[in-house]
Amino acid sequence: MKSNKGSDNIKKIKNKKANFDDQMDLWVGYWRCNLHRFAKDLGVSLKLFQKILIFMMDAFPMFTYVASRGTGKSFLIALYAIMKCILHPNLLVVISSATKGQAIMMIKQYVQFFNDEYPLIGNEISAIRTNPQAPEVTFKNGSKIEAVTASDNARGHRTHLLILEEYAIMKKSIIDSVLTKFGTTPRQPPFLSLPEYSDYPTEPIREIYISSARYKSEWGWTHVKGYFKSMIKKYLYPKVIYQNYILGYFQAIGACHFILNYLTKRK
Ligand SMILES: Nc1ncnc2c1ncn2[C@@H]1O[C@H](COP(=O)(O)OP(=O)(O)OP(=O)(O)O)[C@@H](O)[C@H]1O
Ligand SMILES: [Mg+2]
Repeated sequence: MKSNKGSDNIKKIKNKKANFDDQMDLWVGYWRCNLHRFAKDLGVSLKLFQKILIFMMDAFPMFTYVASRGTGKSFLIALYAIMKCILHPNLLVVISSATKGQAIMMIKQYVQFFNDEYPLIGNEISAIRTNPQAPEVTFKNGSKIEAVTASDNARGHRTHLLILEEYAIMKKSIIDSVLTKFGTTPRQPPFLSLPEYSDYPTEPIREIYISSARYKSEWGWTHVKGYFKSMIKKYLYPKVIYQNYILGYFQAIGACHFILNYLTKRK
């Protein structure tokens, strides 16, 4: 009698694969809704306020965060961009900084840190390029993070997630005429081309504004005020001050710099 062992094994492997795909779908859905828990599963330990920030960054299509110096803004931006890239294949992320040096540092220092220190993250990244002309990180699933200097020369990039690091020192005209224009086409996952998904809603283009505090006379403050007003409706504007080391800094750097860099609370 002919043995069915071979076809039984193929069936078993197929079932196992289907089971794995189902489980993976569930996990990815869970992580997409709970980015702070995804960070934990990747091995990154976050403070409570960072967990809340990461969660809220993803809950709104626009997000503004003004915080004191050294509170982990760049760390959080890099982690958020990496997690989004891992969870959403073919995602294009642009992290824009005011200067070329800052843009390169975002990749060279922060993304490289996550790549080196967290093997589960490193396993998802296929290449890190720190070439000053086009610093970028590519992922095995087709996603990409580009670090872009906020200037007129930056025209031509495309993104699904725009992150403006230290936005308050950028020129508002460049943000309006160049950077926000990167987000013209939503992400196109392959399933969207199937007829049954023709009416499927597209993902919003996200914009994240993060900065240290600046003067009230500058446009960054107007942005925060406008944002604050619409917060109840759609967006969020949190403020964080690290009170435990503030006094030491006040003595060290003097009142003017202290107010500018650490006193983010305003009337
Ligand atoms: N959850 C965390 N786990 C480990 N290290 C952290 C965490 N959060 C922040 N850090 C570290 O804290 C330091 C300060 O973070 P970061 O440089 O991102 O702050 P920043 O707010 O961007 O500072 P600046 O205002 O100077 O740009 C970095 O060395 C960063 O790696
Ligand atoms: Mg920073």
